[in-house]
Amino acid sequence: MTQMGHGQRAEDANLGLGALYHGLARALRPARAVVIGSWRGFVPIVLAKALSENLEGGEVVFIDPSMVDDFWRDASRVKSWFDRFEVVNIRHYCLTTQEFAQTQDYGNLGPVGLLYVDGMHTFEQARIDFECFRSKLTPEAVVLFHDSARVRSSSIYGTDRRYEHRVKDYMELLRLDPGLEVLSLPVADGVTLVRQRDQ
Ligand SMILES: C[S@@+](CC[C@H](N)C(=O)[O-])C[C@H]1O[C@@H](n2cnc3c(N)ncnc32)[C@H](O)[C@@H]1O
Repeated sequence: MTQMGHGQRAEDANLGLGALYHGLARALRPARAVVIGSWRGFVPIVLAKALSENLEGGEVVFIDPSMVDDFWRDASRVKSWFDRFEVVNIRHYCLTTQEFAQTQDYGNLGPVGLLYVDGMHTFEQARIDFECFRSKLTPEAVVLFHDSARVRSSSIYGTDRRYEHRVKDYMELLRLDPGLEVLSLPVADGVTLVRQRDQ
């Protein structure tokens, strides 16, 4: 879990950017966080732990169609994996964001106080991920986009399916939106925080 650009360090039990994710979930106390994409569950686990530490509780809706390998494919394996970390408040959907948006569960989804976008890092997919949940965000919600520090080539989906991370470019587009506040932290692979400006 330390390999995916969140700047963790096992030697001093340093969560890296995970400390920020954990702190935000504790401070905002959202009833619901949505996480799109994860290699082995670092972000959903950190957020789920933080929400369970809040008196209000809260759940993590985790969307990942298991496109890198079969890690998220089998529901009982996914459950055992999260059990190992003693988190029971993650609901996983083995779907893309687009597929999830077609489900009844999406239609019935309550307000989202924290959205973490870490799926396919094309400009277009980052846009879809954000737009899909924009109308469900609470006024005080924070949206985090991972891998926003630089444009780079990735072969995570196979050497024959190499593609460019373009989240950084999408962040430049969001900066032009007067209704949004956008702050990029160039820590590890970078995370950008976005929130709706107060009316
Ligand atoms: C490997 S993660 C990126 C690594 C990440 N930085 C981490 O910390 O785990 C990207 C994930 O996004 C998922 N993904 C790809 N396309 C997606 C989509 N359209 N909707 C939701 N998830 C998607 C993949 O299955 C993959 O597991």
